[in-house]
Amino acid sequence: MSIELNFGVPIPSLPAYGRHIFICTHGNCAPPSRTAQLIKRLHELNEEHDRVRFSNGERLVVTSSGCLGVCMGGPVLVVYPDGVWYAAVDEAKLERIYTEHLLGGQPVEELVMHRHFPPGQEAAYAPPLRSAQSVDPLLALAEKAAAEKAAQRRNPSPEPISDRVAAARARRANRG
Ligand code: FES
Repeated sequence: MSIELNFGVPIPSLPAYGRHIFICTHGNCAPPSRTAQLIKRLHELNEEHDRVRFSNGERLVVTSSGCLGVCMGGPVLVVYPDGVWYAAVDEAKLERIYTEHLLGGQPVEELVMHRHFPPGQEAAYAPPLRSAQSVDPLLALAEKAAAEKAAQRRNPSPEPISDRVAAARARRANRG
């Protein structure tokens, strides 16, 4: 059965994923350039570890958030569904958090700033509870677009910009 929103717009589907990571980018607790660097590194790690594919139920979703309400000792990073918060995250800590917690499932205790749940009573990590997910055609298209975007991020081509600059120069020359 398909559910529809008002005006006949179907409710979008969200492919299952493993964990959701939020990093504050508001700028009160750390310079935005530092958080931007962490987010960039998280995307790189996700690509290296195949955590980008929509069809991967252990996909890791990264969201740059506004202020997370701590506002000191940042950057602040939160991992859900675990409800584990980390502060003062730098690249070295991020590598540990990624390997030990996001891939390994074990929070890095000495870096934890706050927990929603007592250790061992975290919300269930969903992927082992799910059956294999089928991928609908639209999702496959979105996945292809995401892979292309990721490839472009890894290997940015200056051509489109230079093409636009050349076209703008030609227009200006034709006008004058
Ligand atoms: S600006 Fe980072 S938690 Fe508020």
